[in-house]
Amino acid sequence: MNYVIGCDVGTSGTKAIVVSESGKIFSKVTVEYPMETPHPGWAEQNPEMWVKAAFRAISGAVKKARVSAAEVKALGFSGQMHSSVFLDKNGKVLRPALLWCDTRTHAECVEITRKVGESRLRQWVSNPALEGFTLPKILWVKKHEPRVYDKIAQVLMPKDYVRYKLTGVLGTEVSDAAGTLYFDVKNRRWSKELLEKLGIPVAWFPQVVESQQVCGHLTPEAARQLGLKAGTPVVGGGADNTCGAVGNGIIQSGDVMASLGTSGVFFAHCDRVKVDPGLRVHSFCHSVPQKWYLMGVMLSAGMSLRWYRDSLGLAEKELGEKTGKDPYNILSGEAEKVPAGSEGLIFLPYLMGERTPHRDAHARAVFVGASARHGRAHFARAVFEGITFGMRDSLEIFRELQVPIRRVVATGGGAVSPFWRQLQADIYGEEVVTVNSQEGPAYGAAILAMVGSKLYPSVSVACSKLVRVASRTSPRKAQVRVYDEWYPEFRKLYPALKDSFRTIQRHL
Ligand code: XUL
Repeated sequence: MNYVIGCDVGTSGTKAIVVSESGKIFSKVTVEYPMETPHPGWAEQNPEMWVKAAFRAISGAVKKARVSAAEVKALGFSGQMHSSVFLDKNGKVLRPALLWCDTRTHAECVEITRKVGESRLRQWVSNPALEGFTLPKILWVKKHEPRVYDKIAQVLMPKDYVRYKLTGVLGTEVSDAAGTLYFDVKNRRWSKELLEKLGIPVAWFPQVVESQQVCGHLTPEAARQLGLKAGTPVVGGGADNTCGAVGNGIIQSGDVMASLGTSGVFFAHCDRVKVDPGLRVHSFCHSVPQKWYLMGVMLSAGMSLRWYRDSLGLAEKELGEKTGKDPYNILSGEAEKVPAGSEGLIFLPYLMGERTPHRDAHARAVFVGASARHGRAHFARAVFEGITFGMRDSLEIFRELQVPIRRVVATGGGAVSPFWRQLQADIYGEEVVTVNSQEGPAYGAAILAMVGSKLYPSVSVACSKLVRVASRTSPRKAQVRVYDEWYPEFRKLYPALKDSFRTIQRHL
């Protein structure tokens, strides 16, 4: 039989899956790791940690699946977007990577916008300067660590660094390149104009392929360690969000995806580049040739729930440990008993600032409306609702931009829980469906590897054969009405608190 490997280099861990040509998952191994926060708002990881994790996850998955090396036709990687790997001229990592959720680069974003201007940013790279993107990270290193900056010879994305260590080939592909802010999203090439304007050498950035194209072959040493054949092709792969979209069959106009992981993402396929005049949602290249997408990103979706579990939900955590139940299920079980709207308790999920729709690194999380009547279950429900309202902010922008919405495919942790699926349907006011595979980005990366190794002629043919609807959740009229009343109240809170967020940050 023919198999491929999909591997996602994520923020909380790296996951490898072995998938047969018919789409069946034969094994899955995840290796978890921490994220360092040396200062509030900073987020870093050592790229070597990803490489080690990828070797362990892939070799573990190959062993577990009991496939022979000759049967594995290709590998595909997906990965966290935007995070910067700085290499010297010998290919050595110069410092830990600054991650997508790191917000230290506010001053650099202001500088980029002043030097380049928002209208030229829109024209050259289709996006605004945001703290999480790669370009401001490079400028931060230039200003704060000039000795590191002087040694930079290459800047790579996380999954591209891992591929480099496996193949010896420096390269990237359009979907991850698009998230750097120095990529011409419309024309799918590096933006020489923007790099020149900021004095950054274009030679620092590798060749760019489309996601399904082969971008290197396993070296004999990597192949030996992985239990695979030397020369096995490795495709370009894609950003975690585009691979997640491919894995969920989001490959034509009308397909929209709501992904609730650490971050929260609303993703809409576009046949042509579309740019939000307000630049509230990102415009990036899809992992499907000559297709694009719009994306709204919440920085703390699942992260808010994890924070709640670890700080205020200790009772649920303890109960989980005693009974062997998942504390998230205990939390959602409690939340389910409270009426829609949490009797007026509202949570703003801005633990790490927010991207869509506020573009504000200073925003912070808030509970508003607490009264003596509210108990633990209300707080739990308010967190689920606040995250989902934050997701709706992106959906409302898509509606305003007249993006066709044929179906919303839910994925990530938020899709696993029936409670959260129903909550999403009620808050979005749309039918929410899930598909057969819940492996998200790793599955999409595997599909790209199938196309790259010619097991399927195109991404759309592969998706039409491999991705099927598994569940449908319809919005409930009464709940939709309640949420349509509460959502405008949620919307009013950020503008009312914006100045306080700023002054509070100044005191820290
Ligand atoms: C997207 C973004 C996140 C990361 C998570 O712009 O920053 O979704 O890709 O890994």
